[in-house]
Amino acid sequence: MLEVQNVRAGYGAINVLWDLSLSVQPGKLTTIIGQNGAGKTTLLRAIMGLIPVSQGSITLDGKPLNGMPTWDMNLVSMAMIPEGRMVFRDMTVEENLMMGAFSPQHRAGAAANLEKSYVMFPRLRERRKQLAGSLSGGEAQMLAMARGLMSDPKVLIIDEPSLGLAPVMVNELFEILGRLKQDGRTIILVEQNTHRAVGVADHVYLMQSGKVVLSQAASEVSLDHLHDLYFAR
Ligand SMILES: Nc1ncnc2c1ncn2[C@@H]1O[C@H](COP(=O)(O)OP(=O)(O)OP(=O)(O)O)[C@@H](O)[C@H]1O
Ligand SMILES: [Mg+2]
Repeated sequence: MLEVQNVRAGYGAINVLWDLSLSVQPGKLTTIIGQNGAGKTTLLRAIMGLIPVSQGSITLDGKPLNGMPTWDMNLVSMAMIPEGRMVFRDMTVEENLMMGAFSPQHRAGAAANLEKSYVMFPRLRERRKQLAGSLSGGEAQMLAMARGLMSDPKVLIIDEPSLGLAPVMVNELFEILGRLKQDGRTIILVEQNTHRAVGVADHVYLMQSGKVVLSQAASEVSLDHLHDLYFAR
């Protein structure tokens, strides 16, 4: 279980997260929703050690993650797919994928994981020699996800994967998220597409101004109530 307790974090003198607590159950999909600027990405950055935590603790199966450098996160089987589908534009699709398995302990499994990626994302196999910079937005998002999976992480953290995708690509994306969940992975999904996110999730957190304002099992969430809270200020 991933546990965030009483966390404060931000950027220098600007604090963004205010005593934020949440827990993520293993093998479940937890979605974090909230308006622009609510602090969702900041929370993910704090979990991944990209920004310091000034108060509180973040633990994975009881072991503290605070202070662990981001480049060691793959050793505890965590991977993040950041906002904005960052890919290496001047490298091919396959080279991008291999970058996801750069660390020594993952190199051995790279060929098998590459094959798994191509099974899950057949479009990427078709385009494996193409430069990543020439992919469509949706294809680049698929590539970013597939690269995140190359280290075969138990915990996968995904920030706004559906942003800017056409409806068919959004459908494909949520289908893939459902499959990743069936694989038994623990997934943290940040989304603005509340309807779809709640549909695929087991648990829902709503964030506002750096705090959690709702924590509920996805099966109990009323979308109307959620939207009222979402737009409340
Ligand atoms: N590098 C930074 N330096 C200073 N302030 C930042 C930085 N990044 C984010 N912020 C501020 O922190 C607050 C929370 O931003 P964050 O990116 O976490 O929001 P978000 O919930 O992910 O929003 P969005 O849905 O737009 O991605 C915002 O007020 C933002 O301006
Ligand atoms: Mg964000």
